[in-house]
Amino acid sequence: GTGKFFVGGNWKCNGTKDSISKLVSDLNAAKLEPDVDVVVAPPFVYIDQVKSSLADRVEISGQNSWVGKGGAFTGEISVEQLKDIGCKWVILGHSERRHIIGEDDKFIGKKAAYALNGGLGVIACIGELLEEREAGKTFDVCFQQLKAYADSVPSWDNIVIAYEPVWAIGTGKVATPQQAQEVHAALRDWLRKNVSGEIASKTRIIYGGSVNGGNSAELAKQEDIDGFLVGGASLKGPEFAIIVNSVT
Ligand code: G3H
Repeated sequence: GTGKFFVGGNWKCNGTKDSISKLVSDLNAAKLEPDVDVVVAPPFVYIDQVKSSLADRVEISGQNSWVGKGGAFTGEISVEQLKDIGCKWVILGHSERRHIIGEDDKFIGKKAAYALNGGLGVIACIGELLEEREAGKTFDVCFQQLKAYADSVPSWDNIVIAYEPVWAIGTGKVATPQQAQEVHAALRDWLRKNVSGEIASKTRIIYGGSVNGGNSAELAKQEDIDGFLVGGASLKGPEFAIIVNSVT
């Protein structure tokens, strides 16, 4: 792995005040390895609740942000607002935003640039669809999505790349450690050739897609897997803690 292990919990559009208060107290009670960056991404409306109740050891991320400065953009949340409420990170380019909402590479690249310039770290998601994998296009698709970030971001210092094969997200069908490692190594190689050797070796590349307490340790052993972006299993505090601690 490269640098400090990074584990993000993407709560997506789940939870209530009550369930989130339980999740936060479970996280506060859990023993988390000190040498792991841990981040959770609550739904926007609960960020303030989480910020004021969760131990500072866990950083907070938005699940999306607007592409520019705030203003007359009904329903959007700006980078400045995420910063104001205490977020350190934002997840961008998630497959659900690409494939359900219809965000494209260019728009996502612009969002990443705006968020980085505004002082947020970016969890930059990429990943192929099942039919793309079956057509042998996994690397092409991932490189194209990665290039869209590379073409637009001002710097790589605050970016974590999340490789999330779409067929593995929420399906219970986790990529094998070999499948994930193969793509992670190719992404690092792409960074080496197209950005720089230094960025390639220091940028964390995390895996997402049906990660749980039972499969995280094997994945974490892979050389180019530097952490996880966890969906479903991040809604259970004790299981999320197992995933965080699976690095050791
Ligand atoms: O952002 C998280 C990913 O989409 C993974 O979700 O762990 O529920 O498969 P999942």
